[in-house]
Amino acid sequence: MYVEYLDIPQIPENLLLTNIEDITSLETQKTTPNGLYTTYHAPTELYEYVKQGFFNNNVQVRYQVMNGQLPIHVDSDYQGVSHVYNYCIITGGDSVKTRWWEQSVIENKRISFDGGHFDAIWGDEINGGLLYETVIEPNRWHKLTVNVPHDISKLDYPRASLRVWTEPTSQSF
Ligand SMILES: [Fe+2]
Repeated sequence: MYVEYLDIPQIPENLLLTNIEDITSLETQKTTPNGLYTTYHAPTELYEYVKQGFFNNNVQVRYQVMNGQLPIHVDSDYQGVSHVYNYCIITGGDSVKTRWWEQSVIENKRISFDGGHFDAIWGDEINGGLLYETVIEPNRWHKLTVNVPHDISKLDYPRASLRVWTEPTSQSF
């Protein structure tokens, strides 16, 4: 299963930033060289809510913003993290798809956003190899597979979500 919605309450409105200007005003944690994808540190109040609500003390919480379609990638911390918990805040459009791809599609390519060389493979240009695609619903916690090649389809406007994970990892997106 690539996406699993969790039976967890929605985040209270007073704890969540819901517009791009507010989110991008937070302290940047990491950004891809082209600025396509950036993560931001979450405020303490949100950390406390997530920590106390249902995750453990090692939890990491980031806002993440995508400014356009993402190429096929595995998350840069995938060796320690196979799944993350996400909460989509701004969808980026009515039919933005999250897609997972067969390993054969990315054979011999560098597709981890780890700061080194990156081979951009665009999902729309590939024939075959699609494992699964779905339009992820906003404002619902879900568990997402990030160690299998995946991408985000074209956006109509920037997309924002929370990324939460618990396994030990170093500098992570
Ligand atoms: Fe990803």
